[in-house]
Order: sequence, then C-alpha cells, then structure tokens
Amino acid sequence: MTSSQGTWPILHAHLLEIFKDNGQSTLFLTRLEERFARLSELLFSLYGDRADFTEQLERICTTAAHAFIARSPELHALDASRNPDWFQQASMVGGVCYVDRYAGNLAGIRARIPYFQELGLTYLHLMPLFAAPESFNDGGYAVSDFRAVRPQLGTMAELADLASELRAHGISLVLDMVMNHTSDEHEWALRAREGDQSYQDYYRMFPDDTIPKRYEQNLREIFPAQAPGNFTYVPEVQRWVWTTFHNYQWDLNYANPALFNAMLDEMLFLANQGVEVLRIDAVPFLWKELGTNCENLPQAHAIVEALNLLIQIVAPATIFKAEAIVHPDEIARYIGPECAISYNPLLMVLLWEALASGWTHLLQHSMVKRFAIPTNTAWVNYIRSHDDIGWGFADEDCAEVGIDGGIHRIFLNRFYTGQVEGSFAAGLPFGYNPRTGDMRISGTTASLAGLEKAQHSGDPYQLDLAIRRILAMMGIILTAGGIPLFYLGDELGTLNDYSYQHDITRTNDSRWVHRPAANQDLLAQRHDPTTVAGRIFGALQRMIALRKSNPIFGADQPTQWLNNIDKHTVLFVRQQGLQRIYVAANFSAYTQSLDLRQFVASQHTTDLLTERRYARDEPLTLAPYEMVWLHSDGHESASIDTDAVSMLSSG
Ligand code: GLC
Repeated sequence: MTSSQGTWPILHAHLLEIFKDNGQSTLFLTRLEERFARLSELLFSLYGDRADFTEQLERICTTAAHAFIARSPELHALDASRNPDWFQQASMVGGVCYVDRYAGNLAGIRARIPYFQELGLTYLHLMPLFAAPESFNDGGYAVSDFRAVRPQLGTMAELADLASELRAHGISLVLDMVMNHTSDEHEWALRAREGDQSYQDYYRMFPDDTIPKRYEQNLREIFPAQAPGNFTYVPEVQRWVWTTFHNYQWDLNYANPALFNAMLDEMLFLANQGVEVLRIDAVPFLWKELGTNCENLPQAHAIVEALNLLIQIVAPATIFKAEAIVHPDEIARYIGPECAISYNPLLMVLLWEALASGWTHLLQHSMVKRFAIPTNTAWVNYIRSHDDIGWGFADEDCAEVGIDGGIHRIFLNRFYTGQVEGSFAAGLPFGYNPRTGDMRISGTTASLAGLEKAQHSGDPYQLDLAIRRILAMMGIILTAGGIPLFYLGDELGTLNDYSYQHDITRTNDSRWVHRPAANQDLLAQRHDPTTVAGRIFGALQRMIALRKSNPIFGADQPTQWLNNIDKHTVLFVRQQGLQRIYVAANFSAYTQSLDLRQFVASQHTTDLLTERRYARDEPLTLAPYEMVWLHSDGHESASIDTDAVSMLSSG
C-alpha cells in the first residue's frame, strides 16, 4: 500500500487551478499521471511516515508545475523533438573545463565555440560556475547560490544564452548539480547560523558530538589529509553539522521533504536555463543512516529516481549523469531509471592500471564482467577528470585473475608517483591517509602517461612512446560504447601545472596540478605536426571524425570485450548488424602479435586509422602501444561466441 491511492483526483484539481491561465496543463498532467504511481511510491518510501505526507507530495508537484510553466517555448520545443537515444549516438563527444581557467569567463567560452567544433565536441561540461566562497570553495563544489553565476564569470542570463548558442552549434551544455551539500555561505546556511530552525533542518545538525561520534565509527574520510572527519562545529549556534567533504561544505538533509522540494526547485531552474545534462555530484552520500557507512543507501537511490521522474515531467530533454566513485557494483545501480549516463571510473582506472603494469588481463576481465549496462543508457568514458585517480577496481575481480588488489594499489600509487624504477609517470599523491596507507593520484593525462619525463629527458623514443600511450587511451574511450569525455587541454598534451603550490588556498589540494589554465602556445601549435601538441591534436581530431562517421561506435550498439586473447592487448569488438570493428591496442612497451582468425570471418580487415589492409591469415603485429580499429571487409556473423573464443585461446 502506498500513498498515492485517492490523492490523484485532489492533486489533479489543485494543479488545474495552477494552470488556469495557461493552456498547457494537458501535457504536464499527462506526463505526471504516467509517472505518478512510481513517483508517489518513491516519495512515500522517503517521507511516508509523516502525517503531512499528502501535503508534501502536493508541494513537490506544485513546484514541478510552476517550473513547467516557466520553461521557455524554445526548451519545450526541444523536449518535444528529442529522440530518447540522442545521447547514445556516435556523434556524441564531450569536453570538460573550468570556465575561468580555460577561457576567462562565459564570453570567452562562447568565443571558443569554433574551436569546440574544430575538435568535434557535442557535449560541454562547464565545471561549477556558481557563486561560491572567494578563497576556499573546492573548485566551485561549495555552492553559495544555485541561481547566480560567479560575477567574474558572467551572469545567469549569459549562461542561458550560452546554452542556447551552444545548442545552435550542436553542443549540449552540461552542468553540475551539487546537491549533497551547499557552501557555508549559502543563504540556507546563513539562516541556519542565525538560529532559524527551519533552515537548520535543511542540514544534518546535532546539538553535541555524541551522535556524530557514533556515526563516525562507520564513515570513511573523503579528504583525510585536508579535511579529516565528517562533522564540523558551528560556534554561532553551538551545533555540529555534517560535512562529508570540507568543513565549509555542509551536507543537506534529504530526510526533510522541504529540503527535497527546495533542491528540486533549484534543479528545475537550471534545467530551464537550457542545461541538457545535470551531473549529480557525490550521489552516493545523499542519505545517512546510523550504523551504516552512509553511502549508496536505498533512499539515495529513491531521491535520484524521484528527481529524475520530475525532470522527465518538466524538462524531458534533460538527463542525469551519475558521479558515483564507489565500488563498481554500486556504480551500476545508479544507471537506468535514476541516471541515463554515468562516469565509467572503472574503465578509467583500469586503463592506467594496464599502462603501468603492461598487462591487460584485469581490465579485460573486469570489462567482460561489468561493461554491459541497460539499453537507453550510456557510460561516459574518460581518461581523467578534474578529480584524482583512486584505484576503484574490485578486489574480487583482482582475485579472479590472481592479483592481490591491496598490494596492486600500493604498486600503482608508487608507480604513478614515480617511485618505481623505470616508471614513466609524473604524478602527485592525493589524499594520503596515514591511518590506512591509502592514497590517490593527481596529474594530467600527458604527465601521467610519460610526456613530462620524456620532454625533460629529451629522449625522442620515450617521447614517441608517451604520445602513443596517450593516443591509445584516447582511441579506446572513443570506440568503447559510451560518450567519450576529454578534459580540455589534454588534446594538446598539456603537462602538470605546479603553480598551485604557491597558492595558499590550493597548496593542500594536489588536484590543482591537473587543472592548468589553457596554454595558448600549445593551442597555436595544434596544426603543426612537427610539434607534440600538433601530433596529439591532429591524431585525436582524426579519430573523433572517424568515430562520428561510423554509427557502429554509438552507445546503442554493443561492445564485446574479448578476454583471454592476449595478456598485453586491450581488445573489444563493436558490432552493428553484420558489420564489425575490432579495436586492439597494445598496452605494453614490447611488440605483440595476435591471431584474430578465431573470430574474424572476412578474408580481409582494414585499419580505419592507417587504412592498411590485413589478410585474415596474417598475424596482427602491434608495435608498443600501437592501436588499430579493424573494420572487417566482409560480413560477419551477428555475434561472437565468446565461450568458443576463450576455449580456443586457452587451448
Ligand atoms: C565531487 C567532485 C569533487 C568535489 C566533491 C565534493 O566528487 O567531483 O571535485 O570535491 O564532489 O563536492
């Protein structure tokens, strides 16, 4: 028994009243009615124990109705014209940047549209650009006002115009929905500090530290080095507030339906500015329950699914992207009715793992096991983000291929901080936890892949290898099913920027090493193939164009990972009907030779990257870090029998 029985007629009448001067009630009410049973079931699971549940439900639907009315005709038209699979197309290619570091301000971003088009981008994630505290703001993830752009960057009206301008150029705007917390300067927090109980209830506040201490027994620390513990004392009101991240980021209290409703309002406001993808920041942490680790609780899932239903009712052109950097089993649970797309941190970390070890069996094994996600969803495949790299592969996957996950993480941390003899990487430690010995890694793609060291040494062979490593990773995220996402600057081989160490507000946060300002010199070199920037940019631009012209690379077509073929090669097949493309990349510094006869039927394949033709009988020889995208020239069977393949290859 849920909640909703009997409430619909009353709610319907109330909503009609709201729409009385607006002709569009039918579309809204139809969308709501279609989703009403599930929506009220979810909200009942969160707030059903309250005597005023029906009233809360009505308030939430009222917020949605007002946002629907406020939505512009241009965006209503977008809602109507969107194909549900728009984000799965091979044409989708993403870029991410900080507005200030990359282009100064929103006008600067607008001026870069021709560059985004030159590269082939159709998805642009602008890192948090909202009003935030001046000095410490966690790269913008401490939001003081979801409806105000930081004045140095522009205005909300400019942002809405930019969204529309980007769309006119085929680019979807992606913004963060930082909904787990606000900054301690947000108006809600200021009111809570003034003692207003209704705003104190927007946060998780405690009169003393007795309960916080009980919670702490099961919590991890996200930033153990800079922000140990999960609670902060607020002297003005003599209370403790929950702060999972930094002490100036106050966790919101979704057990309070008024907060849910307030955040819904902020979210719909952003959707109505023309944002097409909302990146749900820190999604695992939305609900807390004593005695648990307060991550990935069922209520966190209910919150996101309910919000997604409400977005589908008001602004269906908008989709959610999950940011869940947790165990791979848990990540998968956010994909589907909750979020249409999700970061793929597992592929990301395993690409780096494979590069460091020179072995691909953990990557292949994990991908065979975990790459498939529901239809109508997509991974966002990336090499690195603005955040650190934490080795979030599953220990059980490691054990299945004979690796000790814990020891392997120590090796990887040592490798990427250059402590392993022969390591090519120039990374920095992030978030070292002396209690657990745990740590993560910071660094740009180029610096982690060896370019920084190679340039310092002046060794042309090492330089060549570094470029190949970068391109192999880029080629994989461009061809494995999903939306490839590039951190802008990586396309030019931008190295680590150590200047953050002189900035008192950043020196404790090594993630700033891989958030460099745009480098105009590299940009100017991008068409010169004798430069490193030109080599990377040129090759990437070509690969992007190839991806976009082959629908087989869309996320709506299957990706089949082929395990047990070769221990040093990343290998998967894209299939569309009887067409196949085999993507193979050698992740070792030695030449490898593969026999693809066991699953290629065609007499010939053609490498799309070099246009070289390969005969079926000839072994495929891959130079160090070389990659091929082999298109079979004839028809293949509709699918590959992987059992037969693994038997053949192990036999
Ligand atoms: C996410 C962001 C990260 C931020 C954290 C807290 O993980 O990606 O940069 O520090 O959330 O908002």
